[in-house]
Amino acid sequence: MSRKKYVVGVSGASGAPYAMAAIKALLKLEACVHLIITPIAKQVWQHETGTSLSEFIGTFSKEEQSRLILENNKNLGACVSSGSFRHDGMLVIPCSVKTLAGIANGYAGSLIERASDVSLKERFKLILVLREAPYNLIHIENMATVTRAGAVVLPASPGFYHENTSAQGLIDFVAGKALDQLGETEHDLYTRWKTEDIQGEKDA
Ligand SMILES: Cc1cc2nc3c(=O)[nH]c(=O)nc-3n(C[C@H](O)[C@H](O)[C@H](O)COP(=O)(O)O)c2cc1C
Repeated sequence: MSRKKYVVGVSGASGAPYAMAAIKALLKLEACVHLIITPIAKQVWQHETGTSLSEFIGTFSKEEQSRLILENNKNLGACVSSGSFRHDGMLVIPCSVKTLAGIANGYAGSLIERASDVSLKERFKLILVLREAPYNLIHIENMATVTRAGAVVLPASPGFYHENTSAQGLIDFVAGKALDQLGETEHDLYTRWKTEDIQGEKDA
């Protein structure tokens, strides 16, 4: 059985912990991850997590590191820039409104935009974990455009109905919803809803 291959883009919206949770979970599920991180995302990552990307990568085993391929956002010649490179889906987590705008307008000027554009044209899954609040009409129109083109817009808005509502639990919930959209549902990022979870249902 060949391994699943995913492209994970990290842009400069707030929410580096979502990216960390998603990457960790995909590696745990034995997938290969092609990671693209924008220059501003590296700064936001350091600010929000207190660690650099290389320190984060250093927390993985050698075997996991061999499945985490760091791509240069400027390298439009990378494999993920071509539709001939087949993969199982792309996640942009978090997705800034600037990267959303690039994708919505087919502006494939960086690798993260080009790989997203290729994912749409090849009808690969493309999940955009958007983080901004509030939205203006431009954001909403860009979300509609990418949705019509086949992407899934998944706002970084955690639910509070699952068991773990700690900060890490809420982060993991968003990452888990993103993995669900990729079709990777065997993760343990959040506990799934069961009918009997509401006591009142039993009493009614
Ligand atoms: C600390 C920090 C937090 C930010 N948070 C957001 C955010 O939540 N959403 C967003 O769309 N942009 C956010 N931005 C702005 C983006 O980083 C900026 O628009 C940048 O041009 C995005 O570029 P990229 O999409 O190529 O990474 C933030 C910037 C900084 C420095």
